[in-house]
Amino acid sequence: MRILVIGSGGREHALCWKIAKSPRCEKLYCAPGNGGISEIAEIVNIKADDIDALLDFAKAKKIGLTVVGPEMPLVAGIVDKFQKNGLKIFGPSKELANIEGSKVFSKELMKRLGVPTADFSIFDNSDDAIRYIDTKKAPLVVKADGLCAGKGVVVAKTADDAKAAVKSMMVDRIFGDAADRIIIEDCLVGEEASIIVISDGQNVAALASSQDHKRIFDGDKGPNTGGMGAYSPAPVVTDEIFKKVMDGVIYPVIQGLAREGKQYKGALYAGIMLTKDGPKVLEFNARFGDPETQAILPRLKTDLVEIIERAVDGKLGGYNLEWDERPCVSVVVAAGGYPGNYVKGMEIHGLDQVKKLKDTAVFHAGTKIGKRSTDAKDTFLTNGGRVLNVTAMGDDIKKAIDNCYAAVRKIKFEKMHYRNDIGYRALKMELTRRA
Ligand code: AMP
Ligand code: GLY
Repeated sequence: MRILVIGSGGREHALCWKIAKSPRCEKLYCAPGNGGISEIAEIVNIKADDIDALLDFAKAKKIGLTVVGPEMPLVAGIVDKFQKNGLKIFGPSKELANIEGSKVFSKELMKRLGVPTADFSIFDNSDDAIRYIDTKKAPLVVKADGLCAGKGVVVAKTADDAKAAVKSMMVDRIFGDAADRIIIEDCLVGEEASIIVISDGQNVAALASSQDHKRIFDGDKGPNTGGMGAYSPAPVVTDEIFKKVMDGVIYPVIQGLAREGKQYKGALYAGIMLTKDGPKVLEFNARFGDPETQAILPRLKTDLVEIIERAVDGKLGGYNLEWDERPCVSVVVAAGGYPGNYVKGMEIHGLDQVKKLKDTAVFHAGTKIGKRSTDAKDTFLTNGGRVLNVTAMGDDIKKAIDNCYAAVRKIKFEKMHYRNDIGYRALKMELTRRA
């Protein structure tokens, strides 16, 4: 079967890497892909949100299965369009992708289906929102309804900060229409974890738990980023908590929607806050997590193409996934300046050396193949803020972390930077357990 993966980041490289191992995959394409992906898939020069061009390509090449990485094409309705044209595609419909595309849709769904989440109110004008803030105690969380490239959430420590967030979203309109409506919700306290499942509309195959590190600096300091690293499993998600999330969050959503006559097919990502009152949902995403996927897929022994085909065909009932028990850690190596302005086009050294290491993989997030100067040879150049996801397994979390950083240290490009403490929470738990 010919398979098309849509997207261009580290998540898509990890998806391509896993899909390419499947005996069901005869030919792999990736649109638009990146430098690293071009080593394992044929790159298609079509942007992830150019749905009509992707559809024409899939029809022309007789693509047997399309796997969508990012949220944009899902929210724009790529699944509905492909299905209408008789093409198999993995992901939720345009309507259900709103679980990520509209925070109002998502919160109302949670309320309706009894899924634990922070108490909230919805506003369509700034005056009401500001009056509401005066009745509440800070901290508060202000969220734009629509997609804002991960920047639409402000955790406001004071009422003034919350009001400033409302003003910038609704009066200054920094996110345009995406903040025509906003949500103000109570601030939850606890540790965060990611639970991602693959659903066939009725049944689910749960992926192993994971944890992302969103802040730029060690110790979870500094501004938020698209994610600086991840690891799987997240030991804070005990079997008991995992079951609570499945029974209290995942099944109520999938089966609740099914009862309403709506089949959620695709990856469903629940961002969970583990509060003292139990797990509560911070957000849903309609796709695989990035960078969580890069730390999860190396542990998955089951053929991903088979899982995805079963999901699309409604055949996940009673199907179990097999896992490598060893932990996996993925560290993001970023360009100088990221998450602010950064430079592109730096030559990346050391990738060949990392290739020789066991249980290690480098998923490219922002690279391209090109020349640093006209008379130079083709090589990997940086082409984004997050450049590489250096990923390694180990017999325990400490060994996985050590293996991962041993690989990171072999890589060099001008002004690169990365966090030195990816996996620290799991390591701390492991050391406490051993003591
Ligand atoms: P979201 O896009 O809704 O997941 O929000 C992004 C990040 O904001 C989350 O990963 C949390 O770190 C934080 N956040 C969102 N909602 C809340 C909340 N109700 N309480 C505390 N932190 C939150
Ligand atoms: N790791 C957060 C996300 O994928 O949205």
